[in-house]
Amino acid sequence: MNRKYRKTVIAGNWKMNQLNSGVKHFLEELKEVAPKTRNCDVVLCTPAVMIQTMVKAGRDCRVAAGGQDVSTHEKGAFTGEISADMLADIGAKYCIVGHSERREYHHETDAQVNEKAKALLSRGIAPIICVGESLDQREKDLTVSYIAYQVRAALAGIDGAQVRRCVIAYEPIWAIGTGKTATSDQAQEVCCAIRAEIRKLYGARIARAVSILYGGSMNAKNAAELLSMPDIDGGLIGGASLKPADFATIIAATAQE
Ligand code: PGA
Repeated sequence: MNRKYRKTVIAGNWKMNQLNSGVKHFLEELKEVAPKTRNCDVVLCTPAVMIQTMVKAGRDCRVAAGGQDVSTHEKGAFTGEISADMLADIGAKYCIVGHSERREYHHETDAQVNEKAKALLSRGIAPIICVGESLDQREKDLTVSYIAYQVRAALAGIDGAQVRRCVIAYEPIWAIGTGKTATSDQAQEVCCAIRAEIRKLYGARIARAVSILYGGSMNAKNAAELLSMPDIDGGLIGGASLKPADFATIIAATAQE
């Protein structure tokens, strides 16, 4: 983390878990155990039906609400889709785009990820743009070049002022939900390469202002070490964000210098 230049972000990704009726109780438990934070945004990205409850109940304990996906379209005949305008209207502050599960199961392309990020930015919502390599790409030594490509594709046509509001999440696909975490050195290497790519595109001042997260089996035990790395500014946390005590421990790990 480098708090001098950028914000720390601890974002939970609930995926398709929990219920709207349990949101308040979850936050009450979290509030009891989570420490107060400095220059750190805590956010829970929930299924869309829970966002409004999260916005209301989260005010009390400074937890922001986020979505997990957004339509590329502004509005119209797109049954089942949710627009950036709708997310903004109910108070979402962040939204995940390009998660590997959406890329894989919903065939989301880099061009769509880019359109989604732009749609969110136009409504004042910070996109959490996910990038990550497969095990095969890592074994073939393609990680850094592939991630740099994904970053360029996701940010195409986005200007410097708006890039400052984007969050990039490095999530190696082989580490998601598998219990296999990238080592802190592996994660730092890629997060540093992401910042280098942003520097190439937008210059040093903007690159040092963008928060870059690590995601993939981050948990209460390994968070402090990952967050101690200079280019890792937070986490995108799946499984461990479903338990208030574990999520609180990860939040607490941001208090280290
Ligand atoms: P995980 O999920 O922490 O359960 O590995 C992370 C994610 O998919 O965002």
